[in-house]
Amino acid sequence: MTALGKLVRTTAFKLTLVYLTVFALFAVLLLGYFAWNTRRLITEQITETVDAEITGLSEQYRQGGIRRLVLIVDNRSRRPGSSLYLVTTSSGEGLAGNVGSLAPGVLDKAGWIETAYRRLDESEDAEHQALARVFQLPGGFRLLVGRDLEERERLHDIIVSAGRWSIAIVVVLGLSGGFFVTRRVLKRIDAMTGTTQRIMSGDLTGRLPIAGTGDEIDRLAGNLNTMLERIEALMHGLKEVSDNIAHDLKTPLTRLRNRCEEALRTARVEADYRSALETTIDESDRLIQTFNALLMIARTESGQGREEMTEFDAAEIARDVGELYEPLADEKGLSLRVEAPAPARLTGNRDLVSQALANLVDNAIKYARHEEPGAANGEIVVAARGEGNGIELAVSDHGPGIPAGDRGRVVERFVRLEKSRSEPGSGLGLSLAAAVAHLHGGALTFEDNEPGLRAVITLPRSGPQRTPQLAS
Ligand SMILES: Nc1ncnc2c1ncn2[C@@H]1O[C@H](COP(=O)(O)OP(=O)(O)OP(=O)(O)O)[C@@H](O)[C@H]1O
Ligand SMILES: [Mg+2]
Repeated sequence: MTALGKLVRTTAFKLTLVYLTVFALFAVLLLGYFAWNTRRLITEQITETVDAEITGLSEQYRQGGIRRLVLIVDNRSRRPGSSLYLVTTSSGEGLAGNVGSLAPGVLDKAGWIETAYRRLDESEDAEHQALARVFQLPGGFRLLVGRDLEERERLHDIIVSAGRWSIAIVVVLGLSGGFFVTRRVLKRIDAMTGTTQRIMSGDLTGRLPIAGTGDEIDRLAGNLNTMLERIEALMHGLKEVSDNIAHDLKTPLTRLRNRCEEALRTARVEADYRSALETTIDESDRLIQTFNALLMIARTESGQGREEMTEFDAAEIARDVGELYEPLADEKGLSLRVEAPAPARLTGNRDLVSQALANLVDNAIKYARHEEPGAANGEIVVAARGEGNGIELAVSDHGPGIPAGDRGRVVERFVRLEKSRSEPGSGLGLSLAAAVAHLHGGALTFEDNEPGLRAVITLPRSGPQRTPQLAS
């Protein structure tokens, strides 16, 4: 397609054409109305003047007879720029006036007529148009009074030529403006097409250019860029999950397989086989749990669960989770206290928020007991409170805590700190807690509990807003 052909096919250019036609039509209508109205006004003025003269002259005729009329008409005919006058006998013989010749038959009928005529007082023999009225005087005489129409025609010509010019100017300016605007738009769209082609060929880092004018194309490009960022983040997440699965699930699977092989090789009696099968089942259960946790994180990060938002009390959740974990804490020689004095209502996914809080409590119980048992060391506090537009769910322990440098990465999948390796776990608990916080438009943060860790989930009361934060 040629560059011009491409330009002409754009929406912007088609719009230009539509506007151009509308404006041109409007100009034609306006000038047409103007021309018609001036013509009507001039004609009206002529008929009024002629009517007045005829009334005056016929009055003179009534008072002074034909002689007086002839005298007055003669007199008026000689004035420069005078009207058209003719007085004839009933047989058509001219008695006075400035009309040299008329189209035949004009005088036969009384009334208004538009006719060609020649003037007596003109040297060259030119024909003019006039609007005249023939009046039948008593006594058989006829009186014709009229006005030349040249002025009216000249005005008409001026308006028509002005109309032609203005339409020509509208078309020329409109077309060049249209070309200019369309070329600019086309250049930007071409740049966008180039980027999208790059993206389609697999390079997700491409972003649409933004001119900075804040117009609709910029807004569209901005939105598409946000969408691309989201897609890129999701793709990145997906890749990370598959990488993680490949690396972190391969080890337990290999271990499982080796154990079975070992059992086949060494087991002699039924009890040996039985115990080998039992460990296999245990390990498989752990693998299934890890898979479920991974799936839950992936679903939460992709925004699933946003449909099941209800209003509930976070204080109630804190109490429920506290109650659920109290026996486990007791078993490990820790005390668990719930601090939720007032209701803290919010909109969210109740099950996911419960699970997130449970993961934090689970961590506190698992890792805090490494510390020497002391007066305050063994206490875990689960707190829920409302604060302005948000609510806060916090779990504090007096364990070893997480060093500030590691707080960013512990929310990543499968990340476990070196000193926690002795505890069972797959490094997914905090990933889910963070994903749940993001899903609600909130955040998971860690503070120093001096000593120990204070893990805090902050959530907005109103639930997730329309543009959820990107899962990271
Ligand atoms: N309360 C805490 N005190 C000290 N370290 C903690 C605490 N909570 C978490 N961590 C550290 O952060 C790591 C990640 O925690 P996360 O809950 O994601 O995984 P996990 O507890 O190891 O395994 P999972 O929760 O999947 O069973 C833990 O392995 C631990 O090193
Ligand atoms: Mg955990």
